[in-house]
Amino acid sequence: MPRLITISNRLPISVKVVNENFVYTTSVGGLATGLSSTDAVKENFWVGWPGSTIDSQKEQTDLKEKLNQDNMQPVFLTDHEYENFYEGFSNKTIWPLFHYFTQYTIYKKSFWEYYKKVNQLYCDEVKKIAQPGDIFWVHDYQLMLLPGMLREVFPDATIGFFLHIPFPSYEIFRTLPWRKEILLGILGADLVGFHTYDYMRHFLSAATRIMDFNHHLGRINLPNRVVEVDSFPMGIDYDKFANAVYEKATIKEIIELRQQLGKNKIILSVDRLDYSKGILERILAFERFLGKYPEYQEQVTLLVILVPSRAGVEQYAHLKEQIDEAVGRINGKYNTLRWTPIFYFYRGLPFHTLAAIYYMSDVALITPLRDGMNLIAKEYIASKTDQTGVLILSEMAGAAKELTEAIHVNPNDMHDIVRAIHKALTMPQQEQISRNAAMQQTLKRYNVKRWSEVFMERLGEARQATEKVKQK
Ligand code: G6P
Repeated sequence: MPRLITISNRLPISVKVVNENFVYTTSVGGLATGLSSTDAVKENFWVGWPGSTIDSQKEQTDLKEKLNQDNMQPVFLTDHEYENFYEGFSNKTIWPLFHYFTQYTIYKKSFWEYYKKVNQLYCDEVKKIAQPGDIFWVHDYQLMLLPGMLREVFPDATIGFFLHIPFPSYEIFRTLPWRKEILLGILGADLVGFHTYDYMRHFLSAATRIMDFNHHLGRINLPNRVVEVDSFPMGIDYDKFANAVYEKATIKEIIELRQQLGKNKIILSVDRLDYSKGILERILAFERFLGKYPEYQEQVTLLVILVPSRAGVEQYAHLKEQIDEAVGRINGKYNTLRWTPIFYFYRGLPFHTLAAIYYMSDVALITPLRDGMNLIAKEYIASKTDQTGVLILSEMAGAAKELTEAIHVNPNDMHDIVRAIHKALTMPQQEQISRNAAMQQTLKRYNVKRWSEVFMERLGEARQATEKVKQK
């Protein structure tokens, strides 16, 4: 039975050395969260970075041994590689560009050189553990050259690639000096997957216009093989969220939080701290809402949870300062002795606390300026076991394509967000229930397990299509 080798920038767990001991935590972000809950595959081996720089040879060997026992193969990065590959090309070039933040995009040759070098490092680590017949599934924007590199080493291997962020329109993508190399890298795969039909369309358009490759119904015919391109909207571990509310640890959290927050309505804002998420814009919209509808003062609390992320990248640090300032200013302006308008946490929260917060929140305000998918929106809906609650969702999030019963907003339009908050807070309960019931049905059916099964099925078919081409 073939093994699946999953390769992503991060392992699903992060490791730090504290006082010569390894300390393990769960990695944050959509990819790690989504994939860690899939058991759709046979044996799975995971290759990725353990989340911190570990230089000592002895520590590297010890950690590798430990992780290998859990079917994980670490890729160690030096400080230089971290700065130029992770913070540099991945998060100062590709991330802003693919999220349409061209003003933040840095085109720098040395970043690119490290991107190639580190993709090669991943390839070398895969080579060390690969066995004949293994299936490779490469994930996300940090490793777009890897499918091509693996194809060189294993010409007949089954290789899948999934991009977890948007693929931008051709006009944006074409500005990248290394656009051809990136396209060729991705096209090393047999199957290329995106969250939405639009990202797929953008990718095909780029491949056609930049490389002169033709496609028919998502199939690109290369001289000796075919590449299938399709959309596979990623799901969540639905039952994990739907069942959490019945667990003791969640119930305890609900009781404690209710004591703290009183009877106020709760509007929830939870994200990794990232400029693509529209967090500052959303906080300012809440301020406008309090000004426009003063009757809601002392009645509603905005709960802002920011999970620290990429703090070494300038824009992230700057955004944190702006959010701190805005929260302080708004609380200073509206605070009363019995009410704090914005409750603000800058840290990741344990699963049961998050589940309790999802369950208790009357409104989830999820307004990214751009987002590949946004699994938080899906987790919120899954957690609403009594089917009350309203999801306000940016039309710029991939998830908006599936969650059509949410209130959709243009995240750049503050008035639209204010209107949506008002509509959410006044929505009749029956309407909330019928909207959530419909969304729950969709999410339950197309959960993360199904997502990976469908991808794997299609990957097998794509590989067979190439075998047929070769036999001709
Ligand atoms: C997004 C990306 C993931 C990434 C995650 C967390 O979800 O698609 O690839 O792992 O953010 O970001 P980080 O830079 O901390 O890995």
